[in-house]
Amino acid sequence: MARPVSRFVCAECGAVTPKWAGRCETCQAWNSIFEEKLEAAPGLSAKGAKSAARRIEFVDLAGSAAPPPRAETGISELDRVLGGGLVPGSAVLLGGDPGIGKSTLLLQAAASLARSGRKVLYISGEEAIEQVRLRARRLGLTDAKLGLAAAINLRDIVATLETAGDTTLVVIDSIQTMWLDEIDSAPGTVSQVRACSFELIRAAKTRNFAVVLVGHVTKDGAIAGPRVLEHMVDAVLYFEGDRGHQFRILRGVKNRFGATDEIGVFEMGENGLAEVPNPSALFLAERRGNIAGSAVFAGIEGTRPVLVEIQCLLAANAGGSPRRSTVGWDSSRLSMLLAVLETRCGVKFNATDVYLNVAGGLRISEPAADLAVAAALISAATETPTDPGMVFFGEVGLSGEIRQVAQAEARLKEAEKLGFDSACLPRRIASGNRKLAAPTGLTLREIGHLSDLVARFSGKTSASASRATMSS
Ligand code: TYD
Ligand code: MG
Repeated sequence: MARPVSRFVCAECGAVTPKWAGRCETCQAWNSIFEEKLEAAPGLSAKGAKSAARRIEFVDLAGSAAPPPRAETGISELDRVLGGGLVPGSAVLLGGDPGIGKSTLLLQAAASLARSGRKVLYISGEEAIEQVRLRARRLGLTDAKLGLAAAINLRDIVATLETAGDTTLVVIDSIQTMWLDEIDSAPGTVSQVRACSFELIRAAKTRNFAVVLVGHVTKDGAIAGPRVLEHMVDAVLYFEGDRGHQFRILRGVKNRFGATDEIGVFEMGENGLAEVPNPSALFLAERRGNIAGSAVFAGIEGTRPVLVEIQCLLAANAGGSPRRSTVGWDSSRLSMLLAVLETRCGVKFNATDVYLNVAGGLRISEPAADLAVAAALISAATETPTDPGMVFFGEVGLSGEIRQVAQAEARLKEAEKLGFDSACLPRRIASGNRKLAAPTGLTLREIGHLSDLVARFSGKTSASASRATMSS
């Protein structure tokens, strides 16, 4: 039987199929399948072997106790997401939509490292040298002594890095523009991206420098998404945010040298990215009290408490099935909450369009936000503002019960710091071990069931004022 000469790989999820298709069977993405040429796979037979096999060495688990040395970039929001700085010999993938600020962030980090006396190389395959210089001028970084090059030929790049001496960081902007001549496909295809990354990571490991690969994520799949190389690198960071908003959030999704749930918050301004050491104040800056449909969620992102405003708008449905639209939150989680509110608490949303928004462009994945979302929904349904001095957190179960969430103390402390005076949270279980470790100055409204929350609102309003019908 003839051996297949090529296979097809999905750029979004990495699934391999023998045949091309317009849509990936595995992840359902459209136009994401690309051909990859297969080279004759080397077998283990002695014929093709280039060198005699050597014995591998086994060692014990103890080793040296010292943690890996790290190079701090001096941008603490970035260092925290990295787990304390760049680890020599590691590879980091920085993904994100085009134009979100990846090159800006890396240029700032590279310049900061270079200023601390380390050797940094910035290789741009996307922008010409003058463009990068222009940006550096705008960011006030021209005094930093870093090596800048515009190159896409990976053979040249790797050969240069082999002789580059004691380098701390190499930035490759972006991996989709890199090109290895022995691979028979265009830059940006799965095979090029994979082969180029492999060579760069190997160079990083042998020469002990950290390499940061920039990868664009595109929805239309015109170029290979960096998903296929997530498993090849040590850390994957995503830079997210709305280009219309000034906030940018750096999120760790994989990290072999640190926690993955950390976020770094930045603000994009005239002079590049500024760190936001206190994101809560920023996320709440535009909040206007006394508006129905808004509730403040006391969340935890990584090791940091973050307060954000959840906004909900209800609109009469013009016929057809009602719309459910969410920004920054999981839409199936919203459907679940609506179902619980309807079935367990008698608040009906079946004739209303529901729009839910996490203000400031943050994306929340914690179930602890359930209670705040429910409060925003009930507040909108009853047209009664939530108490502007109150924060909410707690998970809602399918029977409407409010469940405990982790780190209640940290959430309360942050709320207190930002001038809130009360908190609505899950009822503590009497058994003692769930008691709050630290006393808080906030008034605590502990609730056990979602209907308790509904009762608080319906007590304040006349039923006729409500847009959604309250049937109980
Ligand atoms: P960039 O870093 O080029 O994005 P990426 O590398 O992810 O494609 O950022 C480009 C955007 O950032 C661009 O729309 C302009 C904006 N920007 C600022 O608002 N302020 C600045 O100081 C800089 C350098 C860029
Ligand atoms: Mg860029």
